This record gives sequence, C-alpha cells and structure tokens, in this order.
Amino acid sequence: MMKVEVEESGNVVGTLLMPMFEDACSITDIDSDGVEQSLIEMMNHVISNGDFKAKAGTTLTIHNLAGKAILMGLGKAKDFSTDSAREAGASLVSKRGKQHGTEFTARLTSLSDEQAAAFIEGALLRDYKYNEYKSKDDEEDDDEDIVLHAQTANDVAALSAASDNAAHIATGVHLARDLGNAPPNDLYPMAYAEQAIAWGKGKDNVEVSVIEYAEAQKLGMGGLCAVGMGSDRKPCMVTFDLNPSAKGQPPVIVGKGITFDTGGISIKPSPSMDEMKYDMHGSATVFGLMQALWASGHQGHVVGISCMAENMPASNAQRPGDVITTMSGKTVEVLNTDAEGRLVLSDGLWKAAEYDPAWIIDLATLTGAVVVALGHEATGMWCNDDDLAKRIQNSGDACGELIWPMPLLPAFEKEMKDSKIADLRNIGSTRWGGSNTAAAYLKQFVQTRGEGDDEKQIPWAHLDIAGTAWGAKTNKMVSHGATGIHVRALHHMITKD
Ligand code: BES
Ligand code: MN
Ligand code: ZN
Repeated sequence: MMKVEVEESGNVVGTLLMPMFEDACSITDIDSDGVEQSLIEMMNHVISNGDFKAKAGTTLTIHNLAGKAILMGLGKAKDFSTDSAREAGASLVSKRGKQHGTEFTARLTSLSDEQAAAFIEGALLRDYKYNEYKSKDDEEDDDEDIVLHAQTANDVAALSAASDNAAHIATGVHLARDLGNAPPNDLYPMAYAEQAIAWGKGKDNVEVSVIEYAEAQKLGMGGLCAVGMGSDRKPCMVTFDLNPSAKGQPPVIVGKGITFDTGGISIKPSPSMDEMKYDMHGSATVFGLMQALWASGHQGHVVGISCMAENMPASNAQRPGDVITTMSGKTVEVLNTDAEGRLVLSDGLWKAAEYDPAWIIDLATLTGAVVVALGHEATGMWCNDDDLAKRIQNSGDACGELIWPMPLLPAFEKEMKDSKIADLRNIGSTRWGGSNTAAAYLKQFVQTRGEGDDEKQIPWAHLDIAGTAWGAKTNKMVSHGATGIHVRALHHMITKD
C-alpha cells in the first residue's frame, strides 16, 4: 500500500509533482521552494513557450541532471471540484511511468484543504492491482510501494489526519475489490465465510458468525437455500457485528453474495457469463465496509449481513415453477431461477430486523435493467424514507459515487403479488421496469415496527449496483475489474452524517 507523508513545502525527494491551474499557470515562490534552479528554469521555459498550458488531464514530464518534475494540468480553477481533485490524485498513479520512480513530492499548495485531501484519497484508491494469480516475475520492480510526500501551505496536522483516514478507508475499498475480483472457483460461499471468520479473529470489538446450510434450513431461510442448493458449494449467511456492545440502534447493511450466477436452470447465455463472478459485490462491499469502519476506529454499532450462495443448474437445483417458503413465512413462486438475488435477500432483509436497526440498506448486483437505465454512471436507489434517501444521495455525492433515486411505485408491488398460487412471484409479469419490480419485491421483506396507526416499515433503501460494481470506464479510481463501490459512501454516511 502507498505510504503518504504530509508535510510543509520545502524539501523535494524523488520526482516533483506540480499540479497547476490553467488560469495561474506559473511557478510561484512557494512552488519553487527547495527546487533545483535548473528545473525551475525548465518549467518556466515550457510554460512561457506555451508547451504546457495546464489544461485538465494533461501532464508534461521534465527531466534534467538535477531531477525530474511532472507538471500536471488541473484546468480552470472555477471548474475544479473535490471530484476533480480526487481524479487528479488518481491520475498520478495511472499515468506514472517507470521513469518516474516510486517516490514523489506533490506540491499541493494551490489546492484547498478539502481538495488536497481528495487528491491524496484518489492516489490511494487508484494504487491497486489484483495480482493474486500472477506468477512472480523477477524482472518486475513494480511491486515496490509508492511513497508520496504531500506538501501543503496550510494545516499539516489536519491534512495528515484526513490522509490517514483516507488510507484506512482505502484498505476496505481494496478488500472489497479483492473479493469481487477473486475467481469463482476459489471464492465460494463458505470460502467467503472462512475469510470473514479469519478477519474477525483477534479483533476484540468484532463478532463474525456464520449460519451454515443445515442451520439455514432449520431457520426456514427458504430463499437462501433454494438458490444455493443446486451447488456442491452450499449457501450460508455471514453476519458481521462491529462494536456489538455500543449503545443505540445500529445501521444494518445487507449484501447479495452470489459467488457465481449461471442463472440456474433458467441458464444465462455464454457470452460474458464470466462476469457473473462479480455477482457477490454486494457482499464484497459489506465486508470492505466493515474493514473500513474497523480500520478507521469507528465506535458505533454496525451490522453487516452477507447472503452467500452459488446459483448453479443441477438435478438438485430449484426449478422454474417451484414454490418456496421464505423465513418471513411468505411464499414465492419461482418463475425464473435467474432472478435469484432477490430470493437470497428475502431472508437477509427479514433477518436484518432482528437487530432493531436505525435503518437497513441492501446492496445488490440485482438487475441488468438498471444498467439499461443508468449505464455505469450511477447506482439506482429505491427507498421507503425520504430522509434516508437524501442522506444516502448526499453521501454518494460527497464521495464521487453517484446514487440516483428510482421509484418504489405501488403498481410494481401489485405486479409482484400477482401470483396465481403463492404470495409473491419472483419476476414481473412483463420485462418492462425490471429493476423497479425487483425493488418492489424486496420491499415485501422489510419488517414493520410500532402498533396500530404508528406501525411503520423500518427505513430501508435498496441499492442496485449492477452497473457500478465493475466495468465502469469513467470510474477513475480503478483501472479495471471490481470497483469496491459504496464502501466509501456508506463509511461517510455512518461516520460523518
Ligand atoms: N446478477 C444478475 C443481474 C445482472 C445482469 C447484473 C447483468 C449485471 C449484469 C441477476 O441475478 C439476474 O440475472 N437478473 C435478471 C432478472 C430477470 C430474470 C428478471 C436480469 O437482469 O436479467
Ligand atoms: Mn441471476
Ligand atoms: Zn444474480
């Protein structure tokens, strides 16, 4: 992991990085502090020549006997946002060439405190590779960690604290990506559970528990069991309890954890089926969030529930036409075994209410339809509580992880209740609005609290991350593969809001 040292301007070690605005494209006194005169002259030369104008996204490397410097264009100051600062930090890593070495001194003196923190955050997040399955190449010195000296003209202690916090959160984002990227032959439901148990060992404010298949059957988790029973690698439910003895109602985060989704008997077509290894990203985010909260020293009670199963076709798999009974007691006519995420979440959402939660958020790569609606740019959100929806959206905005409101309409609920022989059906009656019918189905498993006129559903939101969990080319925080989406937004919401 990258090491960040926050310090005052002065010394230059390694390659100098100079972020610069288009409208203030010059080397100021503070910029040149401690920089070799010949490098300053070269920088001034390319600027006055018009070879470098600090347009957004541009960089120019200068190299002489005295050292190396990268001029980095930030565009116009008035267009520069926290999001742009985060992307600029990420671009330091994505554009880094071997010739730049691994040690950098970044002069962040023209950035505000918030922008400087975002710059560091972006660099930390983007500094990730999934190398688990690559044989080691002795020639590669790429494995060496980057050292970033982040220099500020403002409060060193404040920026240093923000940087440390970002580094703690990044460990959670990177863990979520590791889980998402892991191949499905190695990451199956009980493998996730074992990794969760190993993670919990030695952490005295953490309890991890696993409901294995046999127990899940006894508890009546008919949704989880129906999806997972066709695989030799049986389903399980994993719960993470952070600070279980802390007072107050905990937030509960529920994740869809389909370690591979073939579609089951309603089998998917072959092209891109490999991508269904990411179908456990909801549960990857749950695990990554727990790590981020733990590493950053969060004191409140938080619960994570991961619904793990592998959706396989087999002689003992569920069939289209089966009727199952979920933990809630509600029966479901399974008309398509490829609509499996909602089945495992039926039991996870029901279980969540046992914790008397402040609110429940579920995360799921639930529908292809949400990718049709929002592309890879935003997560779809369905929510039964306006205040909760606002908080989630604001947290997404603050972190550059867009979350877009979608409608929970009564008509969709009606459609999902329209089974001839059971309480619910697991797909809509037409293919239209597929993400909305899925959300309307999930809503049936959110329990109520209070009596009579006071009876009310627990505040709940469903986040469909099918478009944002992987394959988002415009997400500059990651080069490819799993994104670790919403570890940061949820960490922000739980700790800062
Ligand atoms: N995991 C998929 C959703 C998905 C598909 C995510 C493609 C990302 C990319 C989910 O289990 C699924 O198969 N959903 C079906 C639902 C349908 C059968 C009602 C879908 O979206 O086609
Ligand atoms: Mn499916
Ligand atoms: Zn799925």
